[in-house]
Amino acid sequence: MTFSTLYLNPLTISDLPAAIELDQRCFGGLWNLAGYQREIESPNSDLLLLCCDRMQGCDDEDNCKHSIGLACLWRILDEAHITLLAVHPDVQRQGLGQLLLYQLLLRAHQAQMNRATLEVRSGNKRAIGLYQKFGFKLAGNRRGYYQATQEDALIFWRSGLQNPNFALELGAWKAMILERLTQCDWQWCE
Ligand SMILES: CC(C)(COP(=O)(O)OP(=O)(O)OC[C@H]1O[C@@H](n2cnc3c(N)ncnc32)[C@H](O)[C@@H]1OP(=O)(O)O)[C@@H](O)C(=O)NCCC(=O)NCCS
Repeated sequence: MTFSTLYLNPLTISDLPAAIELDQRCFGGLWNLAGYQREIESPNSDLLLLCCDRMQGCDDEDNCKHSIGLACLWRILDEAHITLLAVHPDVQRQGLGQLLLYQLLLRAHQAQMNRATLEVRSGNKRAIGLYQKFGFKLAGNRRGYYQATQEDALIFWRSGLQNPNFALELGAWKAMILERLTQCDWQWCE
């Protein structure tokens, strides 16, 4: 069995072309170049890029890294606002989305944030399933917020990030995620 190694690092200026391409594949163009640059420069933003050293199913002679995931959170007082979460369509449903969400929640916990929030289209069942799996609860909706589809924006919150048992939850999630990644031939390089 050959494992592909995963790397998660803060996005840098040299990653911008890869981030824009991945954004196009995952969202059809959510943020532009200036948007990503702004996040890199912001002291209150954690913008992460997930890469792998081999794309499964790809004949990889050149050994270059592939960008396969993006995640971002804004630190606003004691709140972590999750503003971006995406996995390349070719490698979805293999545990990478939960790895990214776990990493954002871990960073929020370590930065003494008390709660996390995000907004998602009401029709985005995959993302909603992921957020609920990590304890996010529906707190409200903005009716017809997305004009193109007339979908509601659902607002989710995850509280208790500084509760004593949250560190235990993080540990349990990590074990679950590592197991899922191994099943899918990914090796997580911390
Ligand atoms: C949402 C997204 C990040 C999930 O990434 P992923 O790598 O496929 O997710 P994972 O494999 O880690 O799945 C974690 C959980 O998410 C949910 N989920 C993911 N894909 C799902 C699907 N196709 N159907 C139902 N639930 C799904 C499940 O709860 C799953 O847990 P399980 O495998 O134990 O059932 C990915 O679908 C994506 O990038 N979508 C496009 C961008 C987007 O919509 N981002 C969210 C904006 S708010």
